[in-house]
This record gives sequence, structure tokens and C-alpha cells, in this order.
Amino acid sequence: MKRTRTLKELSAVFGAVAITTSLGAWTCYAQPGTSPGRSTIPYVATHSDAAQDMLWMANVDKEDVVYDLGSGDGRIVIAATRDFSARRAVGIEIDPQLILESRRNAEDAGIAERVEFLPGDLFKQDFRQATVVTLFLGHDPNIKLRPKMFSSLKPGTRIVSHQFGMGEWGPDKTLRVRTPVLGMIGIHVGPFTFNPHVPDYVGNERHFDSNDDRIHCWLIPARVSGIWRGKIKIPDGSMDCRIILHQRLSKVTGTFEVNGTTDLTGNVEAELWGDHLRFASTPYAGRSQLRFDGHVHENTMRGTLAVTEQGKTRELQWQAQREPVDLTGAWEWSYATGERMVTLRVERRDDGFIATYLDGRQSIPVTDFYDHGGGLYFTRLIGPDRHGGLRIAKDGGWLLGEGIMEDGQLKGQMEFYPSGRMAFEGTGGMKPPKPIVRDWTARRVESSRGPIIEEIQQ
Ligand SMILES: C[S@@+](CC[C@H](N)C(=O)[O-])C[C@H]1O[C@@H](n2cnc3c(N)ncnc32)[C@H](O)[C@@H]1O
Repeated sequence: MKRTRTLKELSAVFGAVAITTSLGAWTCYAQPGTSPGRSTIPYVATHSDAAQDMLWMANVDKEDVVYDLGSGDGRIVIAATRDFSARRAVGIEIDPQLILESRRNAEDAGIAERVEFLPGDLFKQDFRQATVVTLFLGHDPNIKLRPKMFSSLKPGTRIVSHQFGMGEWGPDKTLRVRTPVLGMIGIHVGPFTFNPHVPDYVGNERHFDSNDDRIHCWLIPARVSGIWRGKIKIPDGSMDCRIILHQRLSKVTGTFEVNGTTDLTGNVEAELWGDHLRFASTPYAGRSQLRFDGHVHENTMRGTLAVTEQGKTRELQWQAQREPVDLTGAWEWSYATGERMVTLRVERRDDGFIATYLDGRQSIPVTDFYDHGGGLYFTRLIGPDRHGGLRIAKDGGWLLGEGIMEDGQLKGQMEFYPSGRMAFEGTGGMKPPKPIVRDWTARRVESSRGPIIEEIQQ
């Protein structure tokens, strides 16, 4: 109660505060004089200084097409064109009054012909033309949007979010802006609020320990997961090189094997920045090392491979091809607690995938699903949740799976963070239930077992 009272006091001083509670409700204190909006996401304008910072952070220039999703009075769209010379800027806004206001503001700014304000629901509109997307929505809307951003935006597209993060998808850059106006504050206090491994994590967002707003920037990464093969030329022939990459959003890990005159294997440390991929093997016995720096385009990676052997480095123009995979099918494995078999069904629809999680005779959609090229990543909160109580399993919690297709199976890692009360653990004090993190192998089964009698929609 104390916290709520403090926020109300703050809202009186600063104008607007929105609170999410563990029940998922928004308590919204809209700015005086603003329209009520028709969504659970309230209208709160980004301070003009912070709007400039967002566009600066995204490095907007005359080549860019900027989309502000939930564009309010149009200030970000107008600033993108007027102050950063964006080729085009588009606002999508659900409130018709704000659309009218934005169009008037664009006329007044003299840039009406270079901007567009589309009335409608940002979750349903097409924004694949964007090279920059700006957001000031909330934690949950960001999480809801991220699979669509991954599937429809080109690698390298910049996403800038005022205040709110993307859960376990950590930002590539964060800027603290010392705006005197607070804007929105999202507080969701739930069992996973401070767990950096799951989408509920809010650790990147604003806290009460500072007066700063935060702005975060992400680059949409290329799809790099899978098995890549290329040849390394040596004076008397060539060596086969196989790189295996696992991907979770922007995070890439992997291993390599080189077979030839020298047989080397080991881990690679990788960085992915849009379609720019760099990886290096751990130096083998202090002598041999592979270092790649290049770009990924669909199933080809191309760039420079530096091979260091016995103190000598050769730099080669190098390319590798990814083994083609088919992710569709019903993938079955034993649940984290080992009691029963569960299935992830992956189907192709239009130009993307839809995934469904099946447990016994129940099924739930897996909306947070990513095709990473040669593999997949998904997250799903199983069991009763703050959004409306899915009843699928008694042993609920966050389930995260990452795997690539290898020898006809999905292989990677499964993580399960059980819901449940904190328990006393001797000298360690109160601890949340222990996560289960283990290697994951899912095999393709002919079809998911039994008829699905209970589809539970979100
Ligand atoms: C916090 S305001 C941000 C306004 C503007 N982007 C800014 O930063 O100044 C969020 C805006 O999103 C709009 N909005 C909420 N839900 C929406 C939806 N489903 N589709 C489109 N706009 C939506 C609201 O009406 C509101 O104007």
C-alpha cells in the first residue's frame, strides 16, 4: 500500500503514472487534458527531449523509415522527419482523436507530406517496411510484440523503447535520460519479476532509485542458428570446417570442428549485431585459433576467417552454407519434471510459423516463438498465470526451449523456472524453487497424441 500511495503522490507531481500489478491490471492516471484512449495502454507523451534522444540513439537519417507504434500526438513521427530527415515516418494509433491531432501537428510543422498516421491496432498492422521502430507502450505489450518484430523486420532494424524492456532479451544499448517528467512507470511485481532468464524480467526498466528515464535500443538479429559448413584452404588442399550455432534472440553460442591435417574442436564465442556475426574459437593449446568476421544472409555466411596456427596467421575470404532444415512437425520430449511426455507442434502458416504446446489432452498457443534459421527458441508460461489462468499443468512455471535440428532431432537446452512459493533453505534464507536446466532432445513424432479436446486461447 505504501508503494501505491507514493506513486499516487508522484503522479500528482509529475502528471502521469501507470501501474501494473501482479494481477495484470493497469491503474492509469492519464495526463489532464488528454484523451482517454481505448486501450489498456494509456496515452502518455514522451518528453520532447527524450523523443530526440530516442531518434538519436537509433541513428535515424535520410535513408530511414521510422514507425512509432502507438504514436500519441505524433511527436516522434514528426521529429523523425523534421529533425532527423527520415525518408518517411509513420505513426500507428488506436485513438482517432490523437490521429486527428497528429495530422494537425504535422501540418503545423510543415512536413505533412512526409508522414502518415494510420488509425488502427498496432498489434494487427503491418510495419515490415520499418528500418527503425519506436515504442513507449509497456512491458507486456513489448513482449507481445517481439515475435512479430523478429519475424517481419529485416536484420539490423533498430528498435528503441522508452522506459520498458523486453524481458530476458537484453538491450544492445541503454541510455539514461534525465527528463524531469516521469512518463509511465510499469511496476509488475510477480514471482519472476527479478529473474533475468524469463520474459517477465523487468530489471532493465526504470527503478525508484534514480530520477532517470531509460531508453533501450536493440538490433533485430539475423537468423544464424544451425549447422554451417565451409572449407578452409591450406597450401596443399583444404580442410572441412563445421560450425554449430545455437541462438536465443540476440545471444549466440556454439562449437566448431576442423577436420584435416589438424583436427581441432572447441567452443566459439560469438557476437551478433544485426547480420554482422563475429566468432572466435578459444585458442587451442595457445597455438591455433579461428576468428571469423562477416555477415549472414539467409543460408550463407561470408567474410574473413583468420586462422592462426603455430604463431602464424593467415587471413582468408571465407564462406559457409547452412544445412537446410524443416522445423515443422510435432516434437516430443519428457517434461522438465520427467513425469510425462509433452509436445511442441510447429506448423507453417502464410510466411511464418505457429506453435502449439500440448500436454496430455490440452493445448495452448506458444505465441513467443522464434524461427532462428536452423533452429528455434520459444518461451511459455505454463500453469496459472497473471493473464488469466491457464490450467494446463499443476507443475507450472516458465518453460524456455532452444534447439537446432541435428540428425533429425531438435537438440539444445531446456530451462524450466517453476512457479511456487519461496522456501526456507537453511543458511541461504528464502529461495525461489530451483530451476531445472538441462540438455534438450526432442524427437519428431508422427502426430501429436490423441484428439485435442481443450484449446485454451490467450
Ligand atoms: C504511452 S503513449 C506513447 C505515445 C507516443 N509514442 C509518445 O511516445 O509520445 C501510448 C500510445 O499508444 C496508443 N495505443 C494503445 N494501444 C494501442 C493499440 N493497440 N494500437 C495502437 N495504438 C495504441 C495509445 O492511445 C497511446 O497514444
